[in-house]
Amino acid sequence: MNQAMRVIVTGTGGRLGGAVARHLRLRGHRVVAWDRKAVDLGEPERIDDHFGAAAYDAVVHCAAATSLEWCELHPEEAAVVNAEAAGRIAGHCWAQGARMVQVSTDYVYDGTVPGLRKEGDLLAPCGVYAKTKLAGERAVLESGARVVVARVSWVFGPDRPAFPDQLIERARREETCAAIGDKWSTPCYSVDLAEQVERLLGMEDVEGVFNLGNTGECTWQEYGQAALDVAAEMGVELRCRTVGAQRLAEMTGFLAPRPVYTAMDLTKLKALGIPARPWREALREYVRTYYVAGGQSAE
Ligand SMILES: NC(=O)c1ccc[n+]([C@@H]2O[C@H](COP(=O)([O-])OP(=O)(O)OC[C@H]3O[C@@H](n4cnc5c(N)ncnc54)[C@H](OP(=O)(O)O)[C@@H]3O)[C@@H](O)[C@H]2O)c1
Repeated sequence: MNQAMRVIVTGTGGRLGGAVARHLRLRGHRVVAWDRKAVDLGEPERIDDHFGAAAYDAVVHCAAATSLEWCELHPEEAAVVNAEAAGRIAGHCWAQGARMVQVSTDYVYDGTVPGLRKEGDLLAPCGVYAKTKLAGERAVLESGARVVVARVSWVFGPDRPAFPDQLIERARREETCAAIGDKWSTPCYSVDLAEQVERLLGMEDVEGVFNLGNTGECTWQEYGQAALDVAAEMGVELRCRTVGAQRLAEMTGFLAPRPVYTAMDLTKLKALGIPARPWREALREYVRTYYVAGGQSAE
């Protein structure tokens, strides 16, 4: 275990924040878990009250406005939550001498070219969510605080249902299901991300931008198919066993534009000695752990 730290984790009502808070506690750190009820990022004075009064060694800032459609409809509020609040928290970290992990997204990359995105690659966020997340990265990096920007993608895990859970539920009820087959990224297991974040926090001198997550790349269709395959193997009764293909251009319900190719290269993370396993292996472990034979969710 790393030396015990006092860590504030935000967004603990969410998928990643919940996993990070639990993992840090299990590793013996003292955790203050703040969800939206404790600190609403839309209220700067609440941020100042909380982050100005507490004593801490590090902040893992997971909270964000994560609905792309909501961000598109509320660009000013999205900027306050995703960018201004992050910068404000970083200012408090600087004043405290605390470190900060700012969780960001693969959607900041230029997603027009096939291949794996490296940290230094061209950034070209499309849509309000991605633009405000990039503004959040810049705000924390310019704050003077000791910051790690952790870019993650397609998070799944036990703290909040995500794409694989929704697809499995759908396949249990309906005879057909489909997912986008012409957009690529990497599914990331929140449990693995939490371990990587803890490892980064233990490396006092490490700062800058890192891609985190699992290795490999896939489309949503392949991701969904892998989830159904493992669920069926676990004894979950499915009415639909094959995920059909949809095209991104057909998704008329999407208000926000989505990048096509944003799977990430994890070489920089692995060079620190921090492991990352293939996404299929991590998904398999998740489905095996949280779905038992007969199709009951174990949660
Ligand atoms: N999920 C993904 O696939 C994905 C992909 C790339 C990057 N990321 C990044 O990963 C981080 C964690 O995301 P996640 O997957 O854990 O998403 P999530 O499950 O939606 O969690 C986000 C959390 O932020 C909280 N939040 C939203 N607006 C807030 C506000 N105004 N004040 C305080 N809290 C607020 C939410 O609270 P409520 O529960 O009350 O809404 C929620 O607990 C985010 O920075 C996100 O941008 C996620």
